[in-house]
Amino acid sequence: MQKIIVVVLIFLSFASPAFCVDASYKEVLISSTTNAIRVRLPLTDVTGKVRVKELSTNGFGQPVAPLKVALDQNFYLEWQIGYDTPNTNSPSVVPAIQFQRNGETKYGHEFSKIIFDAVRLGLISTNKLANELRSLKKIGTFDLEKDEAMQLEKDTNRATDGFQREIQLVPQFSLVTPDGSVQIQLKQKQRAVGFQSMIYVCLPLNKVLTMDGSPRPVGKAKSKETVYYDFTKGNAELILDIIHAFGMASQQHNADMQQILGKILAETAKP
Ligand code: ADE
Repeated sequence: MQKIIVVVLIFLSFASPAFCVDASYKEVLISSTTNAIRVRLPLTDVTGKVRVKELSTNGFGQPVAPLKVALDQNFYLEWQIGYDTPNTNSPSVVPAIQFQRNGETKYGHEFSKIIFDAVRLGLISTNKLANELRSLKKIGTFDLEKDEAMQLEKDTNRATDGFQREIQLVPQFSLVTPDGSVQIQLKQKQRAVGFQSMIYVCLPLNKVLTMDGSPRPVGKAKSKETVYYDFTKGNAELILDIIHAFGMASQQHNADMQQILGKILAETAKP
């Protein structure tokens, strides 16, 4: 009997797309109009690169279950924005931005596409991008992953059953703007010793839009809901702030950004 059910389910999943697991809503998609870059982000992918968090009173972002709480201006999307990929089969790849990292070929992806399109649409001038490239070169020797240390603080008055209460202090760098913020969080490396810098773009829920471009109404997320964020001339500085965060995060991120900006400037100078 079980075998028959399995065979029927396999048949149905081929016969009807409704039976297939559709995870495409999780993909970050980037499109552009004449004066804006529109980024589509998933709202309910709680284990993925885009998560909903609540801004608590102590400033710490607490992950929430987006299907269960009404999402208002106290919530934000924490997006672990990416800028490269090893292959060219993603809709958010820019094959013209090709660069090398430790002997491997990488292509500009996601954030690289946002920068590329921002220059193409005139949201960021080539002059401003060239200035940012110069400023990345000056960051040079400073390395957050090596030069910032975690601290352990002993809470002298508190112990439980002989266990001393201690607090781990991990540095974090935030740049807050009216359009969203950028964070550099230091995290323990998962398969090696030391720290790695992670970059997150935080977008307040009251700045995100529905498909028709109107502000998303306050409310619980719907299953597989996606929302949109527009980069326009009015908030394009945030793109430069994100570039700068990558430039500060580590020497590797800085070197990658320099290559990406160099390629974009070269591409946009072509007749
Ligand atoms: N490499 C690409 N995207 C990254 C991010 N958001 N944080 C850290 N490293 C990255």
